Amino acid sequence: MSNLFTLRLSIALGGILLVATGLAQASSNNTRYAVVDKEGQPLPDYVLPSDTLIPDEPNAEQILYGKRLLNETKTLMPDNVGSHMNCNSCHIEQGTKPYGAPYINTFNSFPQINPRAERMFSLEDRINGCMQRSMNGKPLDEDSNEMQSMIAYMKWLAQDVPHGGRVQIDNSGPIDKSLVPDPDRGKAIYALQCAACHGSNGEGKRDASGTMAFPPLWGDESFNLGAGMARTYKAAAFIKYNMPMGVNTHGGWGEGEVLNDQDAVDVAHYFTHQPRPDYPAKIYDFPSGNRPKDFRD
Ligand code: HEC
Ligand code: HEC
Repeated sequence: MSNLFTLRLSIALGGILLVATGLAQASSNNTRYAVVDKEGQPLPDYVLPSDTLIPDEPNAEQILYGKRLLNETKTLMPDNVGSHMNCNSCHIEQGTKPYGAPYINTFNSFPQINPRAERMFSLEDRINGCMQRSMNGKPLDEDSNEMQSMIAYMKWLAQDVPHGGRVQIDNSGPIDKSLVPDPDRGKAIYALQCAACHGSNGEGKRDASGTMAFPPLWGDESFNLGAGMARTYKAAAFIKYNMPMGVNTHGGWGEGEVLNDQDAVDVAHYFTHQPRPDYPAKIYDFPSGNRPKDFRD
């Protein structure tokens, strides 16, 4: 099994590979994507901007604060964040990675109908959704400096793309939802491919200074049952293309694809179904009763 080899490599080189991931991020600013308008007509390409350009913006301070909030959410907003996670624990490479829940189209995609709530959502509503579920916390005041600074970062990241325009980058990758999860197999994959970073009990790992270096996957400090990540197939799609972090069989560092669809579904089912905080208001989700099959009761 060739995965075993990649795994040993991942454990041995974990630290070094994370550094390599950082370097890849720093050099990714020539990345281009096609852009289309509402009618599907081509617009000028989108070029992923380098963070070094932020100081040129009139609201540079606000954008930089937003960027920090997304990276150091737990430390900077302790009253609102219940989990021991940051927004960018899931929004990979600061929201710039294909299949890693990028923020690139976010500013231009709202307001939109939220499928879970079945009503119109502003971007503030959507951020507060992740705040209450993924961060197991409390909503931010919509007019707060924190909320508006995170939005300023997302707006900057969208660059000159007009509202309604769409950069051709996917938020999540495809996964075969017909696969039936095997939790025992998932447990074995977890031990082999994930525990080295996320801990044997999913509790995450801290560095020498006590900062959470690898975010928790279950337990009191993780996301709650209302989060998209608590759903088997959503988590599987994330894991397949992003985890194990820093290892992959082809492409750049940290692009995942070590796991096949069945592996991803098995390990996703295993870790999402370990104990985690509840989100009682989830009973109001999908009010017309059209719940996806991986909905968490
Ligand atoms: C546990 C993982 C996780 C964490 C932590 C998290 N998110 Fe998310 N977020 C997601 C996922 C997964 C989606 C996509 C959901 C979907 O597929 O509908 C998402 C979607 C979003 C969207 C909608 C993006 C779009 O373009 O449609 C925004 C905005 C967002 N998150 C902001 C945040 C902010 C801000 C934080 C921190 C306060 C945060 N998220 C924390 C997992 C997470
Ligand atoms: C080499 C270390 C490493 C390995 C191995 C690894 N991860 Fe991660 N994982 C991370 C890091 C680091 C993050 C946070 C994202 C970031 O900082 O870019 C993360 C984030 C996550 C997240 C979203 C945040 C959260 O806490 O829920 C999930 C889910 C996840 N990993 C699942 C897995 C699974 C399942 C495996 C095994 C198949 C795995 N990871 C293997 C390092 C790793």
